[in-house]
Formats: sequence, structure tokens, C-alpha cells
Amino acid sequence: MTIQKVITLVFFLTLSSFCQGTINDQSQFFVLMKKSLTGNSLSNWDIEKPLCQYKGIGCDNQGNITKIDVSGWSLSGQFPNDVCTYLPRLQILHLSHNNFQGGFPKSITNCSFLEELNMSATSLTGQIPDLSPLQSLKLLDLSNNQLTGDFPLSITNLTNLVLLNMNENRHFNAWQLPQDISRLTKLKWMILTACKLHGPIPVSIGNMTSLIDLELSGNRLVGKIPRELGQLKNLKLLELYYNQLEGQIPEELGNLTELIDLDMSVNNLTGKVPESISRLPKLEVLQLYHNSLSGEFPAALANSTTLNILSLYDNLFTGEVPQNFGLSSALLALDLSENQFSGKLPPFLCNGGKLNYILLLQNMFSGELPEGYAKCESVVRFRVNYNQLEGRIPEELFTLPHVSIVDVSYNHFSGPIPKTIGSAKNLSELFMQSNRFSGLLPFEISGAINLVKLDLSNNLLYGPIPSGIGDLKSLNLLLLQGNKFNSSIPESLSSLKSLNYLDLSSNLLMGSIPESLGELLPNSMNLSNNLLSGPIPLLFIKGGVLESFSGNPGLCVPASLNSSDINFQTCSHSYNHKKTNNIAWIIGASVGIVIVGVILFLKRWFGNKKAETEHDDHSLSSSFFSYDVKSFHRLSFDQREIVEAMVEKNIVGYGGSGAVYKIELSNGGVVAAKKLWSHKHKHSVSDDQLVLDKELKTEVETLGNIRHKNIVKLYCYFSSLDCSLLVYEYMLNGNLWHALHGGKFVLDWPIRHQIALGVAQGLAYLHHDLMPPIIHRDIKSTNILLDIDYQPKVADFGIAKVLQARGGKDSSTTVIAGTYGYLAPEYAYSSKATTKCDVYSFGVVLMELITGKKPVESEFGENKNIVYWVSTKVETKEGAFEVLDKKVSDSFKEDMIKVLRIAIRCTYSTPAQRPTMNEVVQLLIEADPCKFNCCNMSNKKKIDTEEVINKPKSIYDL
Ligand SMILES: *[C@@H]1O[C@H](CO)[C@@H](O)[C@H](O)[C@H]1NC(C)=O
Ligand SMILES: *[C@@H]1O[C@H](CO)[C@@H](O)[C@H](O)[C@H]1NC(C)=O
Ligand SMILES: *[C@@H]1O[C@H](CO)[C@@H](O)[C@H](O)[C@H]1NC(C)=O
Ligand SMILES: *[C@@H]1O[C@H](CO)[C@@H](O)[C@H](O)[C@H]1NC(C)=O
Repeated sequence: MTIQKVITLVFFLTLSSFCQGTINDQSQFFVLMKKSLTGNSLSNWDIEKPLCQYKGIGCDNQGNITKIDVSGWSLSGQFPNDVCTYLPRLQILHLSHNNFQGGFPKSITNCSFLEELNMSATSLTGQIPDLSPLQSLKLLDLSNNQLTGDFPLSITNLTNLVLLNMNENRHFNAWQLPQDISRLTKLKWMILTACKLHGPIPVSIGNMTSLIDLELSGNRLVGKIPRELGQLKNLKLLELYYNQLEGQIPEELGNLTELIDLDMSVNNLTGKVPESISRLPKLEVLQLYHNSLSGEFPAALANSTTLNILSLYDNLFTGEVPQNFGLSSALLALDLSENQFSGKLPPFLCNGGKLNYILLLQNMFSGELPEGYAKCESVVRFRVNYNQLEGRIPEELFTLPHVSIVDVSYNHFSGPIPKTIGSAKNLSELFMQSNRFSGLLPFEISGAINLVKLDLSNNLLYGPIPSGIGDLKSLNLLLLQGNKFNSSIPESLSSLKSLNYLDLSSNLLMGSIPESLGELLPNSMNLSNNLLSGPIPLLFIKGGVLESFSGNPGLCVPASLNSSDINFQTCSHSYNHKKTNNIAWIIGASVGIVIVGVILFLKRWFGNKKAETEHDDHSLSSSFFSYDVKSFHRLSFDQREIVEAMVEKNIVGYGGSGAVYKIELSNGGVVAAKKLWSHKHKHSVSDDQLVLDKELKTEVETLGNIRHKNIVKLYCYFSSLDCSLLVYEYMLNGNLWHALHGGKFVLDWPIRHQIALGVAQGLAYLHHDLMPPIIHRDIKSTNILLDIDYQPKVADFGIAKVLQARGGKDSSTTVIAGTYGYLAPEYAYSSKATTKCDVYSFGVVLMELITGKKPVESEFGENKNIVYWVSTKVETKEGAFEVLDKKVSDSFKEDMIKVLRIAIRCTYSTPAQRPTMNEVVQLLIEADPCKFNCCNMSNKKKIDTEEVINKPKSIYDL
């Protein structure tokens, strides 16, 4: 016997001399708890006090412990086995929000008096034993864990259950609700959300008439919604969103007279919304978004006195919205977007004074904005873009105290921009583009100090650009193109340090370009097609963004620079005199100048082309000064250095397009340069070729304007007639194809997950954060580069599309983008690229990451690809595990299955069924193998309006 054991024994003997019988046994349990668990809160259990006064402990009047509640104590370790050997009278065991290792404590099934077991969010893994012995159990909450194996169908034996919550257990084997679930006749709360529930909803649920709350969302339920649900006369909440339910909404649901919240969004429901549902007397929340419902607005809803949240977006509704909608109840959030509603906007939406969200975008509403909207003090988001609305914007709209987004773009609005804009202190995004707004841009706009995005493009605005815009320090996007602004460019714009996107093109702006504007580089800037004159500031010329100034015949390039840019004349020495000329003359002559300018431009263009082609054999470096240079990031290297280093020994690879060079710069940096095209043959300079060159330039400029951590940086671009060079950041770890299939070493799952998430974030940025969105069109593992930390960067933007056409034998054929094995099936019948094509290709890359296989391998069968192969395997659970890359550590199998599910969704053959990249990012974050507390989509959180109304809407939340 060791000393320690002797001491322990003495300790227990001493204790038992003070205490007696079961109390002694009970205290032993606390000794065990302290031994096997750690956590600060355990110090609450002071050994001096009687047990029954311990924090979180409850006893009956015989001193038997009946309750343990350590919820939220953040304990970690193993919960002691045999709890009911020590505490045989235990009735209540609340253990939620702790961090227990090991599986479900099986001995709990010996607690025959147990009435409440809450082990929500306790990091539980492993299988659940047969729970049938827990005959007294009324409450069972095992939500938010990582339980595996078969779902514990033994719960159907627990006929005293009142509450059952299994939310967020995504690792169960797929299971179906059995008919005999209806044995649980006392059950009031049945929450089986996001727990791998497949198959149909059994009609027997109709017999569970005690139910108050039935939540089955986030599963793979199929088939129709059973009409028998209409028998659940006590039901208050019915949540069926995010499933694959189809058919019509049964009219019988109109019998659920206690119903408060009905959500059947994101299913495949069709047909009309039954009249009976819109008459439900207590309904507060009705969400049916993202289905294929049709017919008219459920008219009786307008008479509801209880409705406060209605979301019908992304359906096929038609017709008018009743004009009295909003009069009978106080609305909180309304989303009717993406339908075909027409007629006048319902004027009384905000009559209850609580409306936060007015989201009516992408319909066919016409007429004017109702007065009432502009008096809606509570409104935060106001979006009516893409309708056929007309008339003026009421002045009061901008005086609303909370309004943060106003989007009236793409309508037929007219009249002036109200001066009240200056009172919009909380406004962060204002979109008024593509309307017929006219008049001056009020200088009061400088009062809207929180503006981040301002788009007034393509209207009829004229007069000066107010210099006060320079006070809008948060401004990130300023688009004024396509108007008739006719002042000079205010110098104050150069103080907008957050500005990323400035477009003043196609106006009548004149005068010289403020020298200081060059400080905004490197930003995307477009000043083309104006009447600007004088020398282009040096910083722009050095920055290589001359393209942004085209169509301003009065602009010139200082003679001293000896620039060969053919688009601009060389500044004459007499320029300074000209500049003092009277402005009226400039306006009068501007038309003339444009014509002369165009002629001059064309003359120079062709002259130059001829000169170039005549010098046939000039070497790279000698032609350097005839290069058209564009740079997109501040350059810390000399462009000549690049050109000189483009020699054989620096070649690190050949892409489809040409050689890639690794260039070590004298300043210590490393860049990659890609030589795109070399047409030494005269005959290739056809008209087609020029068109393609132009296309390449456009693509390159697009990429040059992108700044995102997961998109490869294009530093600059040189082109001349004999070749184009693209200079990128150098990526130390090469491309994903080599990392995965090169066989040198194995990437473990956390790194692969990081790569997947990074690429998804890069793509989500391209699809959802840019205006206009960019479709990559050639996502594949060779286009995903890895930096030193294996952070991925998407490369080869759209250039590949152009290159294929050029590199192909017949350069006049239509441009087909993409790579076999990654191509979305819809390419077979349509060459129209959509973001969903990228999602498909991304899904293929995910499958590569998960399986370690190439997209096309002979083992898949003739003409079969990885998507087909995976789909044949995953029909069974064993098959799903079989496709996982054997080289990855076993402990990540479950995480990989999660991502496999995402990959399968991304590669659905119907584009509409694929998730958006924003959704994919979300799904991947949830599947992060390194994050345990990520799965917090608790069913309660959903009630939060912000969440509900916004979830898959992110595409609009630019
Ligand atoms: C605990 O409950 C049992 C019944 O199982 C009872 O016999 C015993 O007296 C109680 N213990 C104490 C300390 O009162
Ligand atoms: C219900 O309990 C009975 C008797 O204990 C048992 O035989 C049966 O397997 C249980 N049902 C389920 C689904 O576990
Ligand atoms: C529902 O309960 C009734 C009456 O107990 C019974 O006759 C019927 O078969 C049950 N229905 C289902 C589908 O279980
Ligand atoms: C439920 O509704 C349907 C049609 O709406 C009706 O025919 C039926 O009588 C109702 N049933 C009950 C039990 O109220």
C-alpha cells in the first residue's frame, strides 16, 4: 500500500465517522467529480458546507440529492461513471455547456428516477446507448454535440418525454423518423433540427397532439408535408425550413389555430399558399422564401392582426400586394424580393411604426414611392431596386434616423436628389444608379458622414461635383459615371483614403487633373470620356494606369517623359498659355476637339502599329520602351529588371500559355513573371487577334483591380506587339495539383480545409463583393497557388479563357472557357458562364481535396469523372468513407464527410440547386476541423430577425 492510498483511506474513514449512510456515499461522488473534472467553478463546492447547500445541488427533504446543475461551468474532463450508484434519487442532471471527454456516460441509464437530462453542448462524441431504462425521463436535451452512430431510436420507449432536443448533431448516420414516434404522446417540444434526418415526415406525427413546438429544419426530409400535421391543435411553432420537401402546402395547416411561427423556407414547395394559412388567427411569423410557390399574394394576410415578419422572397408570386397590407398589424420585417409582384407599392406597410426591413427588390412594382415610407422612423434597410418605380424620392427618406441602406437603383425615378441627404447620419450605402435623377448633387451630401458606398451613376445629374465629398472619410466606392457633371475634379477627392473604386467617366468634367489624386493609387479609377485637359499627373504615368484617362482629348503626357503612349499627345510647351483660355471657348470647341482627337488618335494608333510591325526581330529588352505598361500595386521594382531576368535559366515551368519565370529582384523580393504570347508571325496579327488582345487587356485590368488575400496579386502587365508579360507575386509552394497529386508529401486535413476555405472566400469575393461580379471560369487545382503557409490564392483569371481561343488552332471559334473534368454540365448546352459554373468547378476541387484523386482517372470508368464516381459511392455509408483519401489521418474522417456533403451540393447538375459561394464559405466554416464551438446554430437563435431575414441574402449585402 502506498502512502497516498493510506492517506486516502484514512480520509474516508474520518469522513464516515462524521457522516452516515447514503450521505457518505453521496459525498464520495463529489470527491470523484473534483478528481475527474477541472474548472474554476468547482471551488464553489466547499467541503466544509453540508452537501445540500452546495451550489447547483438540490436535495429532497430526506437529504437525498435529487438535482445537479452545473450548466455553463466550463468543466473539462470525464464525467464520473456510476453517478446513480452514489446518488440513487437523482432526478435532475443539468450538465450543458461543459467540455466532457469520452463518450456519453453510459451509467446514466441506471438513474431510474431521472426526469431531466440536459447534456447540450458538452462536446459529446460517440454512440448513445439504449435509453429505454430511463422510464421517468421527461426532458432529454443532447443538442449541439458530435454524437455518432445510429440515432437513439430507443427514445420512442420514453413515453413520459415532454421535451426532446437533438439539434445540431450532424454526425449521426442518416435516419428516418419511425411511425411509432407517435408513442410519445406527452411530447410538447420535438426539436430534431440538423441531425441527419432523412426520408419523409411520417403521418403518425398527426397523433402527437401535445406538440407545441415541432422543429425539423436543416435536414433532408423529402416528399410532401403530411396533411395530418393539421391535427396538432396545440402547435405554436412549425419549422420545416432547409429540407427538400415538395408539393403543395396542405390546406389543413389552416387548422393550427395556435400557430405563431411557420417557416417552410428553402424547400421545393409549389402551388399557392392556402387561404386557410393566411387566416391563422395568431400567426406572427410566416417565412416561405426560396421555394417555387406561385399565385397571388395571400390576400387574407393583409387582415391579420398579429403578423409581424413576412418573407416570401425568391418565389414565383405574381399580381398586386393588397393596398391595405400593414394597416391591421405592426410589421417588423418584410421581404417580397425576387418575385413578379406588380402594381403599386402598398402604402401602409409602416403604419405600425416598427418596420425595420423593407425589401421589395427585383419585382415589377410601378408607380411612386408612397409617402408613408419616408415617415417610417424605424426603417434600417430600404431596398426597392430593380422595379419600375417612378416619381421623386421624398425628402424625408433621408431624415430617417436609423436608415443604413437605401437602394432605389434601376428604376425610373426622377427629380432632384434631396438636400436632406445631409441629415442621413447613419446611412452607409446609397444606391441611386440607373434612374433619371437630375439637377445638382447637393453639397449637403458632405453631411452623410458614414457613407461607405455611393453610387449615383447613369443619371442626369449636372453641375459641379461638390468638394465636400472629400469629407466622407469612410467612402470606399464612389461611382458618378454616366452623368453630366461639368466642373473640374475636386482636389478634395484625394483625401478619401479608403476609396477603392472611383468612377467619374463619361461626364463633362474639365480642367486639369489634381496632382494629388495620384496619391489614391493603387485604386481602381476611371476618368475616361470627359473633357479633362492638361498634363496627366506624373504619379499616374508611373503607376501605369493611363488607360483610365482615355477619351479626354485635351490630356497630354509631359514631353520630358518620352512616353510612347499612343493614346495621348505630348504636352506642348505652350500648354500653360492655352490653359488660361476662357472656359466657354473650351466648351464650345469641345465637340470639335473630340472629333479632331479621335482622328488624331486613330492616326497615331495605326501609325504606331505599322511602325511596330516593321521592326520584326527586336528582342525583348530592346522593345522595352515600346511596352504598354500597367501596374496595379505600388511597385517596389524596376520593370526593366523583370525584362532582363526573363532568360532561360529562370524558367520554372510552362503553363498552357507560355513560360513562367521566377525572378529574384535586387531588393530581395521574388516575383513570378508569365510570358503570355509571342506572335513572331506577321499573319497572326489579324483583326481577330486585335480583338483578342483587347479582351486580354480588359481581363488583365479586371484582375489588376482585385485585392483579396485569396487572390493572387498581379503586380503589373506589359504588352507590346510581340508579347505580353504578367508579373505576379511568387508563390513558394506551387500549385494545389502538385501538392495533392505530386506525391512528394501529404497534406493533412486541417491544411486541406484551410485551402478549401480560402479558395471559397476568394471566389465569394469575386461573385458577391465586386461590381460587376467576376466569374473565374477556370477553377481547377492547377490554378490554385499556395504560399509559404499554404494559404491558397486563386490565379489565372479569365485569361485562360482568352488564351484558349488564341492558342487554339482556329482562333476565330467562339471562346469556350474551362477545363475538362471541372466543367459544369450545363456547358454542354449553353456557353453562358454563370457564378454557378465556378461553384461546380470548386466542388470538383473539393472532391480532389477529399479523395486525393484527380478529376478524371481511369478507375472511374470510360468518360466518367470524379463527380460521377463519388455519387456512385456515397449511396452507402461505407462507400462514403471509402472515397476519403486514405493518406489523411483517421481522426478527420468525420470532418471530411462534412465537406464531402458540401462538395456534392456544389456539383449538383442543376445550377440552381448549387449553393452560392457565400453559402459555401459558411458551410466550410461550420465544417472547420479545428474549431469545436462552431456549431451554434441553435434553434432559438433563429428567432432573431436579423438572422432570419438575412441568411441567404448576402448577395445583396454587398
Ligand atoms: C434517501 O432515500 C431513501 C429511499 O430510497 C431513504 O430510505 C433514505 O432515508 C433517504 N436518505 C436520507 C439520508 O434521508
Ligand atoms: C423498447 O423497449 C423494449 C423493452 O425494453 C425493447 O425490447 C425495445 O427494443 C425498445 N425499443 C427500441 C426502439 O429501442
Ligand atoms: C392515430 O391514433 C388513432 C387513434 O388512437 C389510431 O387509430 C391511428 O391509427 C393513429 N394513426 C397513426 C398514423 O398512427
Ligand atoms: C381541417 O381543415 C380541413 C380543410 O381546411 C377541414 O376540411 C377539416 O375539417 C379540418 N379538420 C379539423 C379537425 O378541424
